[in-house]
Amino acid sequence: MRIFLDTANIDEIREAASLGIISGVTTNPSLVSKEATADYETVIKTICSIVSGSVSAEVLAEDTDSMIEEARVKASWAPNVTIKIPVTAAGLKATSVLSKEKVDINMTLCFSVNQALLAALAGAAYVSPFVGRLDDVGHDGMQLVKEIVDIYNHYEFNTKVIAASIRHPLHCVVAAKAGAHIATVPYSVLMQMIRHPLTDVGIERFLSDWRRVSG
Ligand code: E4P
Repeated sequence: MRIFLDTANIDEIREAASLGIISGVTTNPSLVSKEATADYETVIKTICSIVSGSVSAEVLAEDTDSMIEEARVKASWAPNVTIKIPVTAAGLKATSVLSKEKVDINMTLCFSVNQALLAALAGAAYVSPFVGRLDDVGHDGMQLVKEIVDIYNHYEFNTKVIAASIRHPLHCVVAAKAGAHIATVPYSVLMQMIRHPLTDVGIERFLSDWRRVSG
């Protein structure tokens, strides 16, 4: 499973990229609006200069024609821009057109197997089931990820599953076991994934043993 970073914060992206383990970034309007430079174009172009993998930029338009127009503009910002489009009727129409133009689409706000099936049929490069938001309303978000992965594998769809709306490290473990191609994680979760108290204790013990003999 690959890891994308789910943030529009440039400092976090620089730091995570320096670890050499992230292969993409996902943003959404809420994440971009939190940044000081809440200008979508500047933010996406900056992220694309740091990360060479897929960088998702979401469309804000709600009707098909405007989505297509906006997607074409955003896709021109950098070669690695992926366009995020919600799974709606308008979004599916736009995705069907854009995928034929070889624009990579990440169909977002996916909350059901049917939506994921339609996203794949429309030619989306990625689909993003929102795990945490499903958990919030008493559904098992990871069960949805597993079902989508199974169905995509069964029909040999090329669409990649991005486990999104990740809230904690255990979500990543379960996403990996479910066969998700990617988990997009907030920076705080990435940091939690790195740390283990026994690693810290182990380093401290090794160093104190070494200090004893080396004076
Ligand atoms: C994914 O692409 C979304 O940006 C993100 O995962 C949404 O997560 P949230 O439910 O924590 O807002």
